[in-house]
Order: sequence, then structure tokens, then C-alpha cells
Amino acid sequence: MAQLEDELGDILEKARDGKSWSQKDLAQSVDIALEDIRRMENYDLIPDEAVLQKLASALDLHGPSLSAIANEAWAPEEITPDPGPFDLVCLNVFMGSYPVKCYLLICRETRETAIIDTGANPEAILRKAVELNVRPSKILLTHSHPDHAGGLSTLDREYHCPTWIDPKEPRPSGSHDLRHIADGEVIELGNLRIQVIATPGHTPGGISYWVGESIISGDAIFAGSMGRANASWPGLYHSITDRLLTFPGHYRLFPGHGPATTVGEEKQHNPFFFAPATRGGRV
Ligand SMILES: [Fe+2]
Repeated sequence: MAQLEDELGDILEKARDGKSWSQKDLAQSVDIALEDIRRMENYDLIPDEAVLQKLASALDLHGPSLSAIANEAWAPEEITPDPGPFDLVCLNVFMGSYPVKCYLLICRETRETAIIDTGANPEAILRKAVELNVRPSKILLTHSHPDHAGGLSTLDREYHCPTWIDPKEPRPSGSHDLRHIADGEVIELGNLRIQVIATPGHTPGGISYWVGESIISGDAIFAGSMGRANASWPGLYHSITDRLLTFPGHYRLFPGHGPATTVGEEKQHNPFFFAPATRGGRV
């Protein structure tokens, strides 16, 4: 089973953040020892089912989904390839020991290629492009955190191509041709149309890129969890509920960390976003 980006401890911490609760607030709310909350958030304690359900209820999380993740009983099923006329190649790279994902999007007919997030290890992208016999002509950034944009200068030197980012993001260094893009705008790549979906909250100008039936979503949502709300917790929550999870259930989500998932999986198994199947989607 794929390893999730977030464990119980991360989910509790992010859910507390949504309520502006301290660990002590949570301990008092569910009437358990503060030390136990600390141990859970340090990945040192998985409580029993009754406590898990009390925690879920206090934090507005879906109890069965929280329990499944805490007990390592759920991960999204391996996704099927998008039927669109492109290849989306995922690279697992590392910033130090921290794994991060970046992507090569290739128009199958024209071979035109975009890098989506540069990661902090550009050599891996350079090698992969050679292996696939493609030469990227566009760089698209979901946000400017160093684990996502850190390889930009090396890739810019090699490919000498434009880079796109939302203007609300801190300016990443290393691009000789940095261009701004906003919600709803489209970037063409060979025969492909890549549409921008604003998904702020993790950062002020976080964006996702939608192509075919796939969305490369940066650090907005993770399989079974959500990103860290560095800019706005309600902003991030609504980016997910009002934007990403309104797509049809089979649409693929490719996060910046952890396994790929689908809209449907997250609506059935994500403790933050569990929604009955009858709630419907975009189509
Ligand atoms: Fe990030």
C-alpha cells in the first residue's frame, strides 16, 4: 500500500490549526492527557478506537476515515493513466531527505514538454528528459516553496524557457523569463490546453494545473489530508471543497507529496473532506 504523506499526527495538528486550538485545547476538549496528544502528534502513539472517534468528533473530522489512516488501513488505489493524448511522468525527488514530486507533461503527438514544479533536484529532471528524448519548453510552478521551485535556475539555464507562476507568490529566483498567470487562464502545450485553477491557502498564490482528466495540485491536498495552511486555513479548505473536489470522481489529483489520488477517493476517505456520494460533482 502506498505510504501517505500525512499520518495521524499531521492530521490532528492541521485540524487543530483550523480551529486555532492548542494541543491543550484539544486535550481538554476530549478529556485526555496533554501528553497523549503530544505523543500522537510526534507519531509516538496511536490511540484506541474510542479515543480516535472522540478526536474526530471534536475536530470535525470523519471518524471512520481518520481511524483507517491512523491504523494504516487505507491508501488510494493506484490510479489509471489519463486517457488524454499526453503522458504525465512523475519524478520522485528529494530535498535533503524530504521527498517531493515534480512532473513532466508531454504532448504525445508533438512531444512538446512542460516541467510542472522543478523540485530541489534538477539533475533528476535533466536525466529523465534525456531518457524520454524530450526537451522541455515551459516550466509551470504550483508555488514557490524551495522544495517545488528550488531547481529553477539550473533548468532555466539548460532549457532557456519561460516559467509561469501566480503573481501572489514570492518571486522564485532563477528564471530569466518569469510570467504571471491567474485562475482560468490557459497555457498551450502542443495540442494540449492546461488550465489554471487558483487553489490558495497553503501559500498566497498556490495554483493547480488541469489537463485532460488530471490536476497537478501542488501542496493544496494530499491523499487523506490537506496541505499545511501557511497562508489561510479557510482559504485552503475552500480551495479544496469549492474547486478541486467539484471535479468528477474519476479525475486524478497529483499532489506535490505522497501518492496520486482521485476526487472520488478523497470524498470517500479523506477525514477532512468526506462527503456522501450523493453530493455530486461538477458533471
Ligand atoms: Fe509547499
